[in-house]
Amino acid sequence: MEVRGPRVEGRGSCLPPLLSFLFLLSSLGAPSSCLSAPLLWAPEPDQLFRVPEGWRSEGRVAPSHPLGLTFALRQRNRDRLEALVAELSSPRSTHYGRFLSLAEVGALVAPSLETLDVVGAWLEEHGVSECQVVATMDFLQCQMPAGTAERLLPGARFHRFVNEEQRSVALSPTPYSLSKEMQEHVDFVGGLHRFPPEKRALVRSWAAKEPGPRSTFHLGVTPAVLRKRYNLTEADVGGSPNSSQACAQFLEQYFHPADLSEFMHLFGGGFPHLSSVDQVVGHQGGGKAGLEASLDVEYLMSAGANISTWVFSNAGRHEGQEPFLAWLLELSNRSSLPWVHSVSYGDDEDSLSAAYMQRVNVEFQKAAVRGVTILFASGDSGAGCRTVQRGKHVFRPSFPASSPYVTTVGGTSFQHPFLVSVEVSDYISGGGFSNVFPMPEYQTSAVKWFLSTAPKLPPSSYFNASGRAYPDLAALSDNYWVVSNRIPLPWVSGTSASTPVVAGILALINDRRLQRGLPPLGFLNPALYRLQDQGHGAALFDVTSGCHLSCLDAIVEGQGFCAAPSWDPVTGWGTPNFPELLRALMD
Ligand SMILES: *[C@@H]1O[C@H](CO)[C@@H](O)[C@H](O)[C@H]1NC(C)=O
Ligand SMILES: *[C@@H]1O[C@H](CO)[C@@H](O)[C@H](O)[C@H]1NC(C)=O
Ligand SMILES: *[C@@H]1O[C@H](CO)[C@@H](O)[C@H](O)[C@H]1NC(C)=O
Ligand SMILES: *[C@@H]1O[C@H](CO)[C@@H](O)[C@H](O)[C@H]1NC(C)=O
Ligand SMILES: *[C@@H]1O[C@H](CO)[C@@H](O)[C@H](O)[C@H]1NC(C)=O
Repeated sequence: MEVRGPRVEGRGSCLPPLLSFLFLLSSLGAPSSCLSAPLLWAPEPDQLFRVPEGWRSEGRVAPSHPLGLTFALRQRNRDRLEALVAELSSPRSTHYGRFLSLAEVGALVAPSLETLDVVGAWLEEHGVSECQVVATMDFLQCQMPAGTAERLLPGARFHRFVNEEQRSVALSPTPYSLSKEMQEHVDFVGGLHRFPPEKRALVRSWAAKEPGPRSTFHLGVTPAVLRKRYNLTEADVGGSPNSSQACAQFLEQYFHPADLSEFMHLFGGGFPHLSSVDQVVGHQGGGKAGLEASLDVEYLMSAGANISTWVFSNAGRHEGQEPFLAWLLELSNRSSLPWVHSVSYGDDEDSLSAAYMQRVNVEFQKAAVRGVTILFASGDSGAGCRTVQRGKHVFRPSFPASSPYVTTVGGTSFQHPFLVSVEVSDYISGGGFSNVFPMPEYQTSAVKWFLSTAPKLPPSSYFNASGRAYPDLAALSDNYWVVSNRIPLPWVSGTSASTPVVAGILALINDRRLQRGLPPLGFLNPALYRLQDQGHGAALFDVTSGCHLSCLDAIVEGQGFCAAPSWDPVTGWGTPNFPELLRALMD
């Protein structure tokens, strides 16, 4: 189900179209109330309200129903922040690696006193008093009953939605607005329209039917297989007490410590490793373990072996809360964070409002200037597909994979499924070009090279060749073994498997850098895209064959882009060759 709400914008008229419509329905129209009504402004008129499969509406919530909403306040010095990312992340810059503390980031971007005053007074006027602020002062998290929220945000109507696991969330299918004077103080209000992310790990059970020679070959990807392919020896484990890594999981995705220790017992032979996480931030429910959650932790801690690991688990305490936003708030509220983060969350770019994506992007910039490396899975739908009108399709980029300020990880398979062999593109590997973010400078020459040399490109009407192109690199994403609810399961696949593997490998490189007194890698892309020019072509195994999927129509016939020498929009630069990548990233 997709409903794009009517635009709610108080352009000159005293009531926006939606409100005047409701107004007419109630047939109590009094011109005097019209005169005193404030002009309204809609921060996210382009946000799609889409009820995901498996969720159903249970009607309006009671006015007393408790909600948690997030107010993204307008930051100062955004241009300066953007310039700083380039200065601190580019190995060519004299300020490379001179990262900022959280307090310094706060001093740079915290909203003006006027913004804090105006928003504070507006909330107070509506009886909203239960709010927490983050250390950088640019997010407010407030609790209030639905009735208050509906008065505060004209147009919003909160309904309860329930999914098959009886998880419920209160969201507004209709767009909200704010009084026009908030336009210069608020970016958007979170917790109204976006559903919690769904599970993403794939189980390709069909693969189990493939006949395979059973004795001398591997029967699926395990830590030993990964470490062999990526050239990690027994000695390639963490050794600095200061290195750290994390994964983030959303909704009812819990990992069980017992699954992790069982996994390490079964598959952790041959390399020193830890078998428990150091810190869980957020809520760890006691329910069934999620496959995705088990996968993240088990492979992050196998690649980044013997490295202190955190899990961010953000099942929101309040209905209506967006768990992904809750994670972003945590990043801005902790002065000490793990250096590397692996996240397997993504949404269709076209379903999200521009205000939301731009602001999330600024949050990634804030992490980048602190030296934090953030990796996102590129998605499991290849180039994706969107119908623009009957019979006409375009590819469908995914966000945050398409953000220019994160490192995006695609997927590969072994050419011979049962041998540690050369890798080819995994046809599910997400990749393509953003329609929102222009191509960042660090990747222009690599992407232009691809576009001008690829033997066969999809028609140009299917993608936006001027956008940020992804993924940036890749790793195996096919046939993983995972222990979940004490049961070893084969055939788990997807870029949510490749992402923690790359995260663990980068955490190991950080570990070596910290031991040598160097700063951590921080935002990797500016360094990554110049490795080849620096003569470090062997740092990544170039994946040059195979294509990913896209629209099933007569023009592209299900095929998106194809891998090619050097960078390509299926596997990026390729997969990590640890010893060479380490060497390349040690200066
Ligand atoms: C940020 O952390 C402080 C304590 O360090 C806490 O009081 C505050 O509620 C947190 N803010 C949010 C939005 O959670
Ligand atoms: C790494 O692995 C590849 C193939 O698996 C091999 O060809 C190469 O020699 C190995 N060692 C280094 C240091 O690259
Ligand atoms: C594991 O890391 C710790 C530091 O966190 C280090 O003291 C220890 O020697 C490492 N173990 C191995 C086997 O390298
Ligand atoms: C293509 O991407 C640019 C940003 O790089 C954007 O401004 C433009 O609107 C996009 N075009 C389409 C058709 O989406
Ligand atoms: C770890 O960090 C502490 C405090 O920042 C520093 O004093 C110490 O030298 C670091 N140790 C290593 C091995 O990097």
